[in-house]
Amino acid sequence: MNEVTALIGGTGIYAIDGMNLQSETVKTPYGTVTVQRTDDLVFLHRHAPNHSVPPHKVNYRANIKALDMLGVKRICATFAVGSINEKFDLAVPIIFDDFIDFSSGREHSFFDTIKTGVGHVDMSIPFCPILGKALQAEAKNRGMKVRNGGTYASTNGPRFESPAEIKFYRKMGADVVGMTLCPELPLALELGMSYAGLGFSINWGAGMTPTIELIHDGTDKIKEDMLRTMINALKNTNNKDCTPATIL
Ligand code: HPA
Repeated sequence: MNEVTALIGGTGIYAIDGMNLQSETVKTPYGTVTVQRTDDLVFLHRHAPNHSVPPHKVNYRANIKALDMLGVKRICATFAVGSINEKFDLAVPIIFDDFIDFSSGREHSFFDTIKTGVGHVDMSIPFCPILGKALQAEAKNRGMKVRNGGTYASTNGPRFESPAEIKFYRKMGADVVGMTLCPELPLALELGMSYAGLGFSINWGAGMTPTIELIHDGTDKIKEDMLRTMINALKNTNNKDCTPATIL
C-alpha cells in the first residue's frame, strides 16, 4: 500500500486543482478536523475550510493529531510570510531550515498530561533535509526560482509587528516573520513525523516600507508551482529515508 503523506495549505492555498479529492472528517481527542484527500495524499487547510480560524486560534494539536491518525509520516506545509531580510525577495518561495518561536498562549505540546508523560523532542534538525532536497530538485525541474534555507520567526499575531520588533527579530537571526509555524512544526515532530516548510513572502516587515503592503498580483502561478513542487517532493521521497526527530 502507498504511504500516506500530507500537504498543509496556509493563507492563499485552499485547494488542489485537478485532483479528485474526497472530504473526510477525523475525530481526534483534541477536536474534529476536516481534510480533503486521495488514497495517498491528505490536504489540510490550516485555518479550516473557508479560512475561518485566525493564526492564534488554530487548533494545531487537532490538525496534527488528525494527520497522525490518517497514517501520515511526511508533511509539506506552506506559509505566507513577511520578509525581514532584504535578501529575501518577495514572491520567491523559501525552503526553511530553521526557526525561532515567539508565539505564546497556544497549546504547543502533546506531552502535557499524565497519559502522555514527559517528553522532550530534539529540535536540532527541525526541517527534514531529505524533503528539503526533494523540494529543491522539483523546483529546479520546474524552472522555479527558490531560496534554499531561511529562518522563520514565528510570532503570535493576528496583529503585525512593530518596527522595533522587526529589528529585534532580524538581529536574532530571522529572515522572515509569520504567525503559524509554531506550534505546528514541533507538534508534528513530537508525533514522529518529518516536516518541510515552503514559504512565500507577501510583504516587507513593518518599518521596511511606510505601511504594510501585501502583494497579490501575479501570485497565482507561484502558488500553483509551490503546490506541484510539494506534491512531487512527497511522491519522490519515502518514510524510511526521512529520519524522525528523537524524543528524549
Ligand atoms: N508578519 C507576520 N506574519 C505575516 C506577515 C508579517 O509581516 N506577512 C505575512 N504573514
